[in-house]
Amino acid sequence: MTSVSTVIDSENRDEIAPVSAGDRDGPQDGFKETVGDIYHPRPRLTCRNVDVCYDNGAAHAIRNVSLDIGEMEVLAMIGPSGCGKSTFLRCLNRMNDTIDGCEVTGSIRLDGEEIYSKDLDVVPLRARVGMVFQKPNPFPKSIYENVAYGPRIHGLAANKAELDEVVESSLKRAALWGEVCDRLHQPGTGLSGGQQQRLCIARAIAVSPEVILMDEPCSALDPIATAKVEELIDELRKRYTIVIVTHSMQQAARVSQRTAYFHLGNLVEMDETDRIFTDPQHQLTEDYITGRFG
Ligand SMILES: Nc1ncnc2c1ncn2[C@@H]1O[C@H](COP(=O)(O)OP(=O)(O)OP(=O)(O)O)[C@@H](O)[C@H]1O
Ligand SMILES: [Mg+2]
Repeated sequence: MTSVSTVIDSENRDEIAPVSAGDRDGPQDGFKETVGDIYHPRPRLTCRNVDVCYDNGAAHAIRNVSLDIGEMEVLAMIGPSGCGKSTFLRCLNRMNDTIDGCEVTGSIRLDGEEIYSKDLDVVPLRARVGMVFQKPNPFPKSIYENVAYGPRIHGLAANKAELDEVVESSLKRAALWGEVCDRLHQPGTGLSGGQQQRLCIARAIAVSPEVILMDEPCSALDPIATAKVEELIDELRKRYTIVIVTHSMQQAARVSQRTAYFHLGNLVEMDETDRIFTDPQHQLTEDYITGRFG
């Protein structure tokens, strides 16, 4: 293992300075503090000292995680099953609020605004920070209605023509328009798995999000559908910030610019993706990417 050089204590670039996790209790398993570089020069989401507990404090799932997520980047989150990837992702649009007994502490700011502020309305937040799940989950409605639903409830289209335009442009940006333009009023659930996932991406895009969270978006897809979604992610990066949880290191290497490696609720290492996969600084990261763990 190379020397543990943390950036967390080295510079105080924030009003809320991250603190070292070294004195935290609980299983550390060789972890002392995050190595690599958690900062981004143009952050959209700024997460500091985030802790998540389930079961009213009985189960500690995320431990003192600090990281930036930058504009127009794809950040991959990797790590063994149960390390807290989905838990952390759900913090970013307060989806954990919906889980009884789940407590989130620390600070997460979107463009400088604290998303855990008690005055913040989560409905617009979840439009700004959209989510695509592992299993495609279209509404039991038509393809058109799946995409039109969000813009309609958020008042983003003044009339039918504008709504049609939002539906068409969202389906085009999700690389699905050509396959569905002549069947818009048929059920979304009648599409193939890969098409359904792109429909879910179109639905997320339709409300003009700033950030898109994806939790293993390709794990239910075949290699061809996966390749389409990966191409789409690369295209979407021009407009959106994307955070993707993936079990596939090849996928992380293909789609992301930076990668965060989690282990037992700790953020062990974060850096440029190339560096994580070719020159990891932490033994735990190296063990995982070389297949010795997980
Ligand atoms: N709703 C919940 N209630 C209680 N504990 C939970 C809940 N969701 C997750 N956990 C626990 O939190 C820890 C992190 O789980 P999480 O689902 O975030 O891991 P993950 O890295 O996404 O795993 P996987 O790769 O298997 O999806 C695990 O120990 C899990 O059992
Ligand atoms: Mg998960």
